[in-house]
Amino acid sequence: MMTDPRRRLSSKPWCARIAAAAVAASAAGLGLARADPGENTAAPTPGSVFDAAHWRNVFARPREIPAPQDNPTTPEKVALGRQLFDDVRLSGSNGVACSSCHQPELSFSDGVPRRIGLAGEPLARRTPPLWNLAWGLTFFWDGRATSLEDQVRFPVENRHEMGGNITETATELARDAGMRAKFATAFRDDPAVTPANIAKAVAAYERTLVSPGTRFDRWVEGDDTALSSDERAGLMLFVGKAGCAACHTGWRFTDEAFHDIGLATAGPDRGRGSVLDLPAADHAFKTPSLRERVWTAPYLHDGSLNSLEDVVAHYVGRVQRRPTLSGDLKPALNLTENERDQLVAFLASLSSEDPPRPLGLPSRVQMAGSAMDRPPVSAGTVGQRDRRFTPGAVALKKGEALTIVNDDTRTHNVRIDDPRLSFSSDAQAPGGRVVVTFPETGQFRLICGIHPEMRLDAVVSE
Ligand code: HEC
Ligand code: HEC
Repeated sequence: MMTDPRRRLSSKPWCARIAAAAVAASAAGLGLARADPGENTAAPTPGSVFDAAHWRNVFARPREIPAPQDNPTTPEKVALGRQLFDDVRLSGSNGVACSSCHQPELSFSDGVPRRIGLAGEPLARRTPPLWNLAWGLTFFWDGRATSLEDQVRFPVENRHEMGGNITETATELARDAGMRAKFATAFRDDPAVTPANIAKAVAAYERTLVSPGTRFDRWVEGDDTALSSDERAGLMLFVGKAGCAACHTGWRFTDEAFHDIGLATAGPDRGRGSVLDLPAADHAFKTPSLRERVWTAPYLHDGSLNSLEDVVAHYVGRVQRRPTLSGDLKPALNLTENERDQLVAFLASLSSEDPPRPLGLPSRVQMAGSAMDRPPVSAGTVGQRDRRFTPGAVALKKGEALTIVNDDTRTHNVRIDDPRLSFSSDAQAPGGRVVVTFPETGQFRLICGIHPEMRLDAVVSE
């Protein structure tokens, strides 16, 4: 692919600035490196198959923000949640707020590899930005929280982060008449200042942190001139030869799954392996979104890489081979320097030109139901090819055995987290079988602990 040399020259200093951008939050000079979108004349490399319509569909932004049925997003709740996010009374010492680390002007991250915690030591992991979490399936780098509501108590009670106690916070806030009034407005049916309502309000606010559209979204919407030729070439590499879209997929560029990408810095942090108590998931961390990443350096769960160029260099030549390495990575990736630059240029097109501000409360909010996508079929055996339970819903009799066969190339882990039935398989290697019997009637949700987007509904009757 031909590259305009002027653009290549200009892309270099710009890339170097990416790392500093989050800290400086200065857009000065960024415009220079942005290629003139009007110049785009790139055609796909002859012989390569780039199905633009397919990828436009894959990366299309949703129209509505989901919210759980028991915590619909309302303006009153969002306003309260925003205030709580800034309120140091959530911490033990009354000195730290959520926004101390998740700084709005830094895309709700903090610009450092690992922030110094209350004990004076760096935290175990990097502070992630909080964009687009309404669509998240699990939270934290290791997915240990399963909803935004559930997540809130972790930082409050983490002795290195806020060192507080959410019950004490509720008591303290309840002494404040202004706060009581705000809770009463936000929670009309249950107007108390409780840990649950604090969590609901903060989660409702977080759901409004939707990143604004970028030039890439204009391309998705059909504007072929929105991307420069380098950015378009980078997109083709991303979904093609470089294999990035195997994990960074969908409009947020994450599969919400856990992968070991072979970082040389892997230390004692087991990541998902420790949450699942499953060595097969050691060194696996949640695939981060790639939106607005120009503004959120440094990168990775340990903040060990300073620039997007460094991240690309990791995938090209520094992947450590070990048994837990994700099978979704290209086995040996070779990219020329020019191709790496194009990939970085594409990644930058997923970021706003200026430090982004949240889109805010949408006019319409969709309720995410737990309804099944597909009607259940009676089937004794379920497959897992391509990270999909097939069929996706089964009808069974009480006591009947359900067999799940791993006909995929990846290791899975079948789990049920239900008060009626708690179940976790061992690491289910390709070819492995897991058998589950249900002691009770009703509907049960099975997921894969490593790829939580895999969902299987079992409807059990007498
Ligand atoms: C001292 C810094 C600090 C404070 C204060 C803090 N966080 Fe965090 N936050 C982090 C770090 C570090 C992580 C990643 C930890 C991990 O993955 O184990 C994180 C992760 C998260 C995540 C998960 C994001 C994702 O992509 O999965 C959410 C949501 C979040 N924090 C919200 C909050 C809220 C709400 C508060 C206030 C109640 C808060 N944080 C306070 C540092 C902080
Ligand atoms: C096997 C799945 C997988 C593939 C394929 C993959 N990634 Fe990643 N990516 C991840 C995971 C998981 C992380 C976080 C790893 C960690 O922190 O330990 C990550 C992190 C990143 C980050 C850092 C984001 C941040 O906020 O910290 C960038 C940028 C990135 N990947 C870009 C790419 C590019 C470009 C490609 C293609 C060359 C690619 N990825 C291929 C799973 C993948």
